[in-house]
Amino acid sequence: MENIKRVTFTSKIGVVAAAAGSAVGLGNIWRFPSQTADGGGAIFIFVYIACILFFGIPVMMSEFIIGRSARANTAGAFHILAPGTQWKWIGRLGVLTGFIIMGFYMVVAGWTLIYFLQSITGNLHTVNDFSIHFTNILNDPLKQSVWMIVFSFLTSFFILSGVRKGIEKSAKIFMPILFLLLIILAIRSITLEGAIQGLNFLFKPNMEHVKQTVFLDAMGQAFFSLSIGMGCLITYGSYFNKSINLTKTAVQVSILDTLVAVLSGVIIFPAAFALTSSPDTIVGELVTGGPGLLFITIPELLNQMPASMAWSALFFCLLALAALTSTISLMEVVTVYLFEEYKISRRKSTIFVTLGVIILGIISSYSSVFFNILDMASAKYMLPIGGLFISIFVGWYLKQQLVTAQITNEGKLRFGVGFIKFYIFLLRFIAPIAILSIFVYGLTG
Ligand code: PFF
Repeated sequence: MENIKRVTFTSKIGVVAAAAGSAVGLGNIWRFPSQTADGGGAIFIFVYIACILFFGIPVMMSEFIIGRSARANTAGAFHILAPGTQWKWIGRLGVLTGFIIMGFYMVVAGWTLIYFLQSITGNLHTVNDFSIHFTNILNDPLKQSVWMIVFSFLTSFFILSGVRKGIEKSAKIFMPILFLLLIILAIRSITLEGAIQGLNFLFKPNMEHVKQTVFLDAMGQAFFSLSIGMGCLITYGSYFNKSINLTKTAVQVSILDTLVAVLSGVIIFPAAFALTSSPDTIVGELVTGGPGLLFITIPELLNQMPASMAWSALFFCLLALAALTSTISLMEVVTVYLFEEYKISRRKSTIFVTLGVIILGIISSYSSVFFNILDMASAKYMLPIGGLFISIFVGWYLKQQLVTAQITNEGKLRFGVGFIKFYIFLLRFIAPIAILSIFVYGLTG
């Protein structure tokens, strides 16, 4: 049996591709646009970017530091670095969060498969009204469950075969194609007549739409999108070799992730404004359309392009692959935890996790309330709480020599003393205070 703990990613590009593969997913292309619509457009984006800078990147670096120095699963890592303390509960919370995220994420991933199949069979091409089309899918929980199960098995197949090189390689190939395709779609979208209103909504702040929870929502989205706060990148960090520059990797992954999210917005909003018959009501529609935006606006846009069948097949195939590289990272966290901590075989723990995910996924398919509770509980609360403790752990608990050694690769990389001090300062004060204040402000509002 492959001991996953000993395996490291093969190259620097592979590391960025795998971590970006985890970060870039449905969170960017499905969740970000609907959260942006709900949060009032530009204001949400500004707060979101501030969250990435002030605690997104520092927390991501912290996860890499914990993972690479402990070389263990999320809970095991805290156990190794802080033996005999209660810190292991933060790791356990992360494992639980991963499980909960999979409980609704797999359902959305199943929708991408449905759309992919419908594009290759030509069914999607003949649809007149995509809102009705999407509502029909939502009203068919059996269909959703079936495709959610297919996606869960697909994920477990990769986990079972232990294909680290496979994951790394596929991420290296698919991520650039996805990026290119998004750029093409963005160009198509902004050249539609009436697109400018969508761009205004995205980039011009309008105080009318601001809600008090915008900070809480943007913070949750930042954690969710970067795959941080649950130790997913602790697990991936445990596969990094000694020469990986953790700071550079965190910055590169965050930039890629944010670019993909903003690109998705640049595709969806101009198209949504341009393709609607009544632009006056569009903001309201965008908000109520929430989770469906991606599955309503994009196919509409694709249908207006020449060779639309090929484009939509390609788009939904890549979307499914982007989701897959994220579900693999989520399932990896829970599986490796069971595998290493309870000494169950990798095979058994994968089967166990898959069955658990399928049960949650079936409930989410049948109940949108349950689906929303899993989504909100994990993104808005569990990930930021995890992130808060991860920053406190690295900022206050870990020895500064260890942190410095990890950042500088044992002194081989040159960073000014000021940089490391600034990083520790962010972790000690800025990140925890910002996360806590956002909680208090969001919850008391
Ligand atoms: N970051 C992924 C996305 O944006 O789709 C979702 C995700 C993956 C969240 C892994 C958390 C995680 F640990």
